[in-house]
Amino acid sequence: MNENRKTPVISQEQLDQQYALCARVAEYWRSRGQSPVAYVETYGCQQNEADSERIRGLLSQCGYGFAQEAEGADVVIMNTCAIREHAEQRVFGNLGALTHTKRRHPGQKIFLCGCMAGQTVVTDRIKKSYPHVDGVFSTHHLWQLPELLYRVLTTGKRTFFIEDEAGSVAEGLPVRRDNNLKAWVSIMYGCNNFCTYCIVPYVRGRERSREPEEILAECRDLVAQGYKDITLLGQNVNSYGKDLGKGVDFADLLEQIAQIPGDFLIRFMTSHPRDAGPKLFDVMAKYPRIAKQLHLPVQCGNDRVLKAMNRHYDRAKYLELVRYAKEKMPGLVLTSDIIVGFPGETEQEFEDTLSLIEEVGYDALFTFIYSPRPGTPAAELPDPATKAEKNTWFDRLCALQNSISEKRHKAYIGTNCRVLIDGTDGDLLTARTEGGRLVRLAGSPDLIGQFRHVTITGSNTWSLIGDLNE
Ligand code: SAH
Ligand code: SF4
Ligand code: F3S
Repeated sequence: MNENRKTPVISQEQLDQQYALCARVAEYWRSRGQSPVAYVETYGCQQNEADSERIRGLLSQCGYGFAQEAEGADVVIMNTCAIREHAEQRVFGNLGALTHTKRRHPGQKIFLCGCMAGQTVVTDRIKKSYPHVDGVFSTHHLWQLPELLYRVLTTGKRTFFIEDEAGSVAEGLPVRRDNNLKAWVSIMYGCNNFCTYCIVPYVRGRERSREPEEILAECRDLVAQGYKDITLLGQNVNSYGKDLGKGVDFADLLEQIAQIPGDFLIRFMTSHPRDAGPKLFDVMAKYPRIAKQLHLPVQCGNDRVLKAMNRHYDRAKYLELVRYAKEKMPGLVLTSDIIVGFPGETEQEFEDTLSLIEEVGYDALFTFIYSPRPGTPAAELPDPATKAEKNTWFDRLCALQNSISEKRHKAYIGTNCRVLIDGTDGDLLTARTEGGRLVRLAGSPDLIGQFRHVTITGSNTWSLIGDLNE
């Protein structure tokens, strides 16, 4: 046990109680001569995808098989995202539609979890207006799913595991992964940054790091099982380890993982520009197993707005980081997130974002129009720009990035790339470059799962076309 650790860890005894309840849920179904099925619907980011894999792991241990739709499923779990209003509206819409599936299958149990479940306004609305929902659990209570399920099945009572907590770490939960080549590994949970527009710190609690030994053991196991592409996840991976009191930071962890023998690639997201720096980029440059791919969200290119967002870096510092990273890794694939129309942003300030994008030359961007999140400081700020103006800015941003992406993709033509062949799309194979760019190529599906070299012969805004090298 690590004495310096600030983060509470769920004890083995507490976990064993949950596993015992898994056995009782399985027995509940066996005694009825039934084989139950579950349907898990995931919204939002990779962090939620990774959580859903643990939810499926626990459900599987409770004896559930899996369905592709809510219709007819004995359990439906909606793992939700709260990042923008639109994401929440979709969930409420789809949750409403479940009244019909439940009417056709009255035994159906419906649960809501994930980031929306961390907000009292949401859980109050569920309690009042969505009586067909049987239970809600926030991300802090994921490991207690067997207990929740057992209670609801045996008492029929609606149950809410939503107490607000700083959060803990539960190790060793069963995982049912969606893919047998690519794996998510959460290295930490929560966020301490409180960017003024963002709901995540409120719904996912404080930063908690997993012990490096646990992460290394999981990665070794994935490589032994044949996984080829491992993505380390955290809201801000660069602050990994600060709560552990061990003197191990993210660059150290990455370096240790890169030394695991085997033919695989490691990626990670997300890096916060405040905490990313030369030490990390030097480690990335040193190890071929670390993908030369960096998602470094800038959010905007204007210093006044960056300050109002509470991002803790300015344009000059960001550009310096990018310069260093590109110098160390000439083929680096660089992506970012941008918010258009933060409260009070002016057209001139928005143009600073355009000029930054031109200066950096990203491979791709994830672009969002600002969405006020109740309870965050930015939601209280005056927001004079109209929706129409923000839409125009958004379109200008996308047009600029599309032309940059197209140019950058064209530059691949004639080059030779190492790719991981990962699936099919119609008659073609799909593959990813080490930087994560999509390549389509002709070839036999037997190649799926292999690293191969291809020559790039064509491109468009979104993807590349390649020929296999013999
Ligand atoms: N932890 C990551 C990103 C988490 S959310 C980071 O710090 O970069 C993913 C992206 O959603 C953010 O980078 C931001 O661009 C966007 N986002 C977050 N809150 C938003 C809001 N209220 N409105 C619009 N976009 C938002
Ligand atoms: Fe949200 Fe900022 Fe934390 Fe990212 S770093 S999750 S944008 S508060
Ligand atoms: Fe959404 Fe939660 Fe991820 S709010 S973006 S699912 S951390």
